[in-house]
Amino acid sequence: MGITTNEVVVITGGSKGIGFASAALFLEAGKRVSIWDTEKPEDNFLDKHKDNLIYIKCDVSNEKSIINALEDTEKKWGNIQTLVCSAGVQRYSTVTETTEEEWDFVMGVNLKGSFLAAKHCIPSMQKNGKGVVIQISSVQAFYSQEKVAPYVTSKSGQLGLMRSIAVDYAPSIRSVAICPGTIDTPMLQDAVNLSADPEAVLQECADMHLVGRIGKAWEVAKLVNYLASDDASFITGQYFRIDGGMGVMIAGSKR
Ligand SMILES: NC(=O)c1ccc[n+]([C@@H]2O[C@H](COP(=O)([O-])OP(=O)(O)OC[C@H]3O[C@@H](n4cnc5c(N)ncnc54)[C@H](O)[C@@H]3O)[C@@H](O)[C@H]2O)c1
Repeated sequence: MGITTNEVVVITGGSKGIGFASAALFLEAGKRVSIWDTEKPEDNFLDKHKDNLIYIKCDVSNEKSIINALEDTEKKWGNIQTLVCSAGVQRYSTVTETTEEEWDFVMGVNLKGSFLAAKHCIPSMQKNGKGVVIQISSVQAFYSQEKVAPYVTSKSGQLGLMRSIAVDYAPSIRSVAICPGTIDTPMLQDAVNLSADPEAVLQECADMHLVGRIGKAWEVAKLVNYLASDDASFITGQYFRIDGGMGVMIAGSKR
Protein backbone atom coordinates (compact mmCIF):
# COMPACT_ATOMS: atom_id res chain seq x y z
CA MET A 1 0.00 0.00 0.00
CA GLY A 2 1.17 3.58 0.59
CA ILE A 3 2.13 5.98 -2.16
CA THR A 4 2.53 4.57 -5.66
CA THR A 5 5.34 6.27 -7.58
CA ASN A 6 4.73 8.08 -10.88
CA GLU A 7 1.30 9.22 -9.74
CA VAL A 8 0.55 12.81 -10.69
CA VAL A 9 -0.20 15.35 -7.98
CA VAL A 10 -1.48 18.87 -8.64
CA ILE A 11 -0.75 21.38 -5.87
CA THR A 12 -2.33 24.81 -6.11
CA GLY A 13 -0.26 27.35 -4.19
CA GLY A 14 2.66 24.90 -4.26
CA SER A 15 5.39 27.53 -4.67
CA LYS A 16 5.47 28.45 -0.99
CA GLY A 17 4.56 27.39 2.52
CA ILE A 18 2.39 24.32 3.13
CA GLY A 19 1.92 23.60 -0.60
CA PHE A 20 5.66 23.76 -1.18
CA ALA A 21 6.47 21.44 1.75
CA SER A 22 3.82 19.00 0.46
CA ALA A 23 5.37 19.11 -3.03
CA ALA A 24 8.82 18.33 -1.60
CA LEU A 25 7.49 15.27 0.29
CA PHE A 26 5.55 13.95 -2.71
CA LEU A 27 8.70 14.30 -4.85
CA GLU A 28 10.74 12.44 -2.22
CA ALA A 29 8.15 9.63 -2.45
CA GLY A 30 8.66 9.43 -6.24
CA LYS A 31 5.49 11.18 -7.35
CA ARG A 32 5.21 13.67 -10.18
CA VAL A 33 4.15 17.12 -9.07
CA SER A 34 2.53 19.94 -11.03
CA ILE A 35 2.54 23.25 -9.14
CA TRP A 36 -0.19 25.71 -10.12
CA ASP A 37 0.65 29.09 -8.65
CA THR A 38 0.75 32.78 -9.56
CA GLU A 39 4.37 32.83 -8.37
CA LYS A 40 7.24 30.57 -9.43
CA PRO A 41 8.97 28.34 -6.86
CA GLU A 42 12.70 28.89 -6.35
CA ASP A 43 14.82 27.98 -9.40
CA ASN A 44 17.03 25.57 -7.46
CA PHE A 45 13.94 23.54 -6.38
CA LEU A 46 12.74 23.37 -10.00
CA ASP A 47 16.25 22.40 -11.22
CA LYS A 48 16.72 19.75 -8.52
CA HIS A 49 13.47 17.99 -9.46
CA LYS A 50 13.29 18.81 -13.17
CA ASP A 51 12.32 15.23 -14.18
CA ASN A 52 9.31 15.03 -11.85
CA LEU A 53 8.25 18.62 -11.25
CA ILE A 54 6.60 21.25 -13.42
CA TYR A 55 5.51 24.76 -12.55
CA ILE A 56 2.54 26.24 -14.38
CA LYS A 57 1.67 29.89 -13.87
CA CYS A 58 -1.98 29.82 -12.85
CA ASP A 59 -4.45 32.07 -11.10
CA VAL A 60 -6.84 29.61 -9.44
CA SER A 61 -9.62 32.20 -9.30
CA ASN A 62 -9.78 32.22 -13.12
CA GLU A 63 -11.42 29.23 -14.84
CA LYS A 64 -9.53 29.65 -18.13
CA SER A 65 -6.25 29.66 -16.21
CA ILE A 66 -7.22 26.39 -14.47
CA ILE A 67 -8.24 24.78 -17.79
CA ASN A 68 -4.88 25.73 -19.34
CA ALA A 69 -2.96 24.39 -16.32
CA LEU A 70 -4.82 21.07 -16.49
CA GLU A 71 -4.19 20.79 -20.25
CA ASP A 72 -0.45 21.40 -19.76
CA THR A 73 -0.28 18.89 -16.89
CA GLU A 74 -2.15 16.15 -18.78
CA LYS A 75 -0.08 16.77 -21.92
CA LYS A 76 3.10 16.18 -19.91
CA TRP A 77 2.06 13.27 -17.68
CA GLY A 78 -1.48 12.11 -18.39
CA ASN A 79 -4.31 11.93 -15.87
CA ILE A 80 -3.90 13.20 -12.35
CA GLN A 81 -4.54 11.25 -9.12
CA THR A 82 -4.30 13.85 -6.36
CA LEU A 83 -5.30 17.49 -6.01
CA VAL A 84 -4.13 19.59 -3.06
CA CYS A 85 -5.88 22.99 -2.82
CA SER A 86 -3.36 25.06 -0.86
CA ALA A 87 -3.51 28.39 -2.72
CA GLY A 88 -4.66 30.97 -0.22
CA VAL A 89 -4.67 34.65 0.65
CA GLN A 90 -5.46 36.51 3.87
CA ARG A 91 -6.91 40.02 4.27
CA TYR A 92 -7.86 41.77 7.51
CA SER A 93 -11.25 43.44 7.83
CA THR A 94 -14.68 43.27 9.43
CA VAL A 95 -17.80 42.83 7.31
CA THR A 96 -18.53 46.56 7.30
CA GLU A 97 -14.94 47.43 6.39
CA THR A 98 -14.58 44.85 3.61
CA THR A 99 -14.99 46.19 0.09
CA GLU A 100 -16.74 44.08 -2.53
CA GLU A 101 -13.37 43.78 -4.35
CA GLU A 102 -11.57 42.50 -1.21
CA TRP A 103 -14.38 40.01 -0.52
CA ASP A 104 -14.29 38.73 -4.11
CA PHE A 105 -10.49 38.51 -4.02
CA VAL A 106 -10.32 36.36 -0.86
CA MET A 107 -13.31 34.20 -1.78
CA GLY A 108 -12.03 33.99 -5.36
CA VAL A 109 -8.67 32.48 -4.41
CA ASN A 110 -9.57 30.49 -1.29
CA LEU A 111 -13.02 29.11 -2.13
CA LYS A 112 -13.81 29.60 -5.82
CA GLY A 113 -10.22 28.59 -6.65
CA SER A 114 -10.68 25.31 -4.73
CA PHE A 115 -14.01 24.73 -6.49
CA LEU A 116 -12.56 25.41 -9.95
CA ALA A 117 -9.50 23.21 -9.39
CA ALA A 118 -11.73 20.35 -8.19
CA LYS A 119 -14.24 20.90 -11.01
CA HIS A 120 -11.56 20.37 -13.65
CA CYS A 121 -9.30 17.84 -11.91
CA ILE A 122 -12.04 15.38 -10.85
CA PRO A 123 -12.85 14.31 -14.47
CA SER A 124 -9.13 13.68 -15.01
CA MET A 125 -9.06 11.51 -11.85
CA GLN A 126 -12.18 9.64 -12.95
CA LYS A 127 -10.34 8.46 -16.09
CA ASN A 128 -8.03 6.53 -13.70
CA GLY A 129 -10.94 5.21 -11.67
CA LYS A 130 -9.75 6.89 -8.47
CA GLY A 131 -8.44 10.08 -6.94
CA VAL A 132 -8.13 12.25 -3.84
CA VAL A 133 -9.01 15.94 -3.32
CA ILE A 134 -7.45 17.62 -0.29
CA GLN A 135 -8.55 21.07 0.91
CA ILE A 136 -6.15 23.08 3.05
CA SER A 137 -8.72 24.84 5.22
CA SER A 138 -7.88 26.21 8.69
CA VAL A 139 -8.83 26.16 12.37
CA GLN A 140 -10.50 29.41 11.32
CA ALA A 141 -13.25 27.18 9.90
CA PHE A 142 -14.21 26.77 13.61
CA TYR A 143 -12.98 29.94 15.37
CA SER A 144 -12.76 33.56 14.47
CA GLN A 145 -10.59 36.51 15.42
CA GLU A 146 -11.17 40.21 14.97
CA LYS A 147 -11.17 41.46 11.39
CA VAL A 148 -10.96 38.22 9.42
CA ALA A 149 -14.49 38.08 7.97
CA PRO A 150 -13.73 37.08 4.34
CA TYR A 151 -10.99 34.63 5.37
CA VAL A 152 -13.02 32.69 8.00
CA THR A 153 -15.95 32.54 5.60
CA SER A 154 -13.78 31.10 2.82
CA LYS A 155 -12.12 28.56 5.14
CA SER A 156 -15.53 27.44 6.49
CA GLY A 157 -16.77 27.14 2.91
CA GLN A 158 -13.94 24.77 2.02
CA LEU A 159 -15.36 22.24 4.53
CA GLY A 160 -18.74 22.33 2.79
CA LEU A 161 -17.04 21.91 -0.57
CA MET A 162 -15.04 18.96 0.81
CA ARG A 163 -18.19 17.18 2.06
CA SER A 164 -20.06 17.85 -1.16
CA ILE A 165 -17.28 16.35 -3.28
CA ALA A 166 -17.05 13.34 -0.93
CA VAL A 167 -20.77 12.58 -1.38
CA ASP A 168 -21.06 13.31 -5.10
CA TYR A 169 -17.99 11.39 -6.30
CA ALA A 170 -17.82 8.41 -3.90
CA PRO A 171 -16.60 5.75 -3.98
CA SER A 172 -13.91 6.47 -6.58
CA ILE A 173 -12.88 9.94 -5.38
CA ARG A 174 -11.96 10.58 -1.74
CA SER A 175 -12.33 14.11 -0.41
CA VAL A 176 -10.80 15.41 2.83
CA ALA A 177 -9.78 18.69 4.46
CA ILE A 178 -6.91 19.66 6.72
CA CYS A 179 -7.35 22.45 9.27
CA PRO A 180 -3.98 23.73 10.46
CA GLY A 181 -3.34 25.97 13.46
CA THR A 182 -0.67 28.65 13.09
CA ILE A 183 2.06 27.45 10.73
CA ASP A 184 5.39 29.11 10.00
CA THR A 185 5.08 30.08 6.33
CA PRO A 186 5.47 33.24 4.21
CA MET A 187 1.72 33.91 4.78
CA LEU A 188 2.28 34.01 8.55
CA GLN A 189 5.41 36.15 8.20
CA ASP A 190 3.51 38.64 6.01
CA ALA A 191 0.70 38.75 8.58
CA VAL A 192 2.91 39.35 11.63
CA ASN A 193 4.94 41.97 9.75
CA LEU A 194 1.80 44.12 9.69
CA SER A 195 2.27 44.56 13.45
CA ALA A 196 4.59 47.08 15.11
CA ASP A 197 6.00 44.19 17.20
CA PRO A 198 6.13 41.00 15.06
CA GLU A 199 8.07 39.05 17.72
CA ALA A 200 5.35 39.69 20.32
CA VAL A 201 2.67 38.55 17.84
CA LEU A 202 4.62 35.36 17.10
CA GLN A 203 4.90 34.66 20.85
CA GLU A 204 1.16 35.26 21.24
CA CYS A 205 0.55 32.77 18.42
CA ALA A 206 2.86 30.20 20.03
CA ASP A 207 1.04 30.58 23.37
CA MET A 208 -2.31 29.75 21.73
CA HIS A 209 -1.13 26.16 21.07
CA LEU A 210 -0.90 23.54 23.85
CA VAL A 211 2.45 22.39 22.43
CA GLY A 212 3.73 25.94 23.11
CA ARG A 213 4.92 26.68 19.60
CA ILE A 214 3.89 27.44 16.03
CA GLY A 215 3.67 24.49 13.63
CA LYS A 216 6.03 23.77 10.75
CA ALA A 217 4.98 23.39 7.12
CA TRP A 218 6.51 19.89 6.90
CA GLU A 219 4.29 18.74 9.78
CA VAL A 220 1.21 19.59 7.70
CA ALA A 221 2.84 18.15 4.57
CA LYS A 222 3.20 14.76 6.31
CA LEU A 223 -0.55 14.67 6.89
CA VAL A 224 -1.22 15.76 3.29
CA ASN A 225 0.97 12.92 2.02
CA TYR A 226 -0.69 10.37 4.33
CA LEU A 227 -4.23 11.38 3.32
CA ALA A 228 -3.24 11.20 -0.37
CA SER A 229 -1.88 7.67 0.01
CA ASP A 230 -3.69 4.33 -0.16
CA ASP A 231 -2.92 3.95 3.57
CA ALA A 232 -5.81 6.41 4.01
CA SER A 233 -8.13 4.48 1.66
CA PHE A 234 -10.93 4.21 4.29
CA ILE A 235 -10.97 7.97 4.95
CA THR A 236 -13.28 10.38 3.14
CA GLY A 237 -15.67 13.25 3.91
CA GLN A 238 -13.69 14.31 7.01
CA TYR A 239 -11.60 17.19 8.20
CA PHE A 240 -8.44 16.78 10.27
CA ARG A 241 -7.19 19.41 12.68
CA ILE A 242 -3.43 19.72 12.97
CA ASP A 243 -3.23 22.55 15.45
CA GLY A 244 -0.96 21.74 18.40
CA GLY A 245 -4.00 21.54 20.67
CA MET A 246 -5.29 25.02 19.89
CA GLY A 247 -8.78 25.64 21.24
CA VAL A 248 -8.76 22.75 23.73
CA MET A 249 -8.47 25.11 26.71
CA ILE A 250 -11.57 27.08 27.76
CA ALA A 251 -11.19 30.61 26.37
CA GLY A 252 -7.54 29.84 25.64
CA SER A 253 -6.65 29.93 29.35
CA LYS A 254 -4.90 27.21 31.36
CA ARG A 255 -6.39 28.50 34.62
N1 LIG B 1 0.21 29.55 7.61
C1 LIG B 1 -0.80 29.35 8.44
O1 LIG B 1 -0.73 29.67 9.65
C2 LIG B 1 -2.09 28.70 7.95
C3 LIG B 1 -2.97 28.22 8.91
C4 LIG B 1 -4.15 27.61 8.51
C5 LIG B 1 -4.42 27.48 7.16
N2 LIG B 1 -3.56 27.95 6.23
C6 LIG B 1 -3.93 27.78 4.82
O2 LIG B 1 -2.95 27.00 4.19
C7 LIG B 1 -2.89 27.35 2.80
C8 LIG B 1 -1.44 27.64 2.46
O3 LIG B 1 -1.02 28.74 3.25
P1 LIG B 1 0.51 29.10 3.49
O4 LIG B 1 0.62 29.57 4.87
O5 LIG B 1 1.37 28.04 2.97
O6 LIG B 1 0.56 30.41 2.54
P2 LIG B 1 1.73 31.00 1.63
O7 LIG B 1 1.38 32.42 1.37
O8 LIG B 1 3.03 30.69 2.23
O9 LIG B 1 1.53 30.16 0.27
C9 LIG B 1 0.35 30.32 -0.48
C10 LIG B 1 0.66 30.13 -1.95
O10 LIG B 1 -0.55 30.41 -2.68
C11 LIG B 1 -0.20 31.11 -3.86
N3 LIG B 1 -1.34 31.87 -4.38
C12 LIG B 1 -1.91 33.00 -3.89
N4 LIG B 1 -2.89 33.43 -4.71
C13 LIG B 1 -2.97 32.53 -5.73
C14 LIG B 1 -3.79 32.42 -6.88
N5 LIG B 1 -4.73 33.33 -7.17
N6 LIG B 1 -3.59 31.36 -7.70
C15 LIG B 1 -2.63 30.44 -7.44
N7 LIG B 1 -1.81 30.50 -6.38
C16 LIG B 1 -1.98 31.53 -5.53
C17 LIG B 1 0.95 32.03 -3.40
O11 LIG B 1 1.69 32.52 -4.50
C18 LIG B 1 1.74 31.09 -2.49
O12 LIG B 1 2.72 30.36 -3.22
C19 LIG B 1 -3.79 28.57 2.62
O13 LIG B 1 -5.00 28.15 2.03
C20 LIG B 1 -4.01 29.07 4.03
O14 LIG B 1 -5.26 29.68 4.16
C21 LIG B 1 -2.39 28.55 6.60
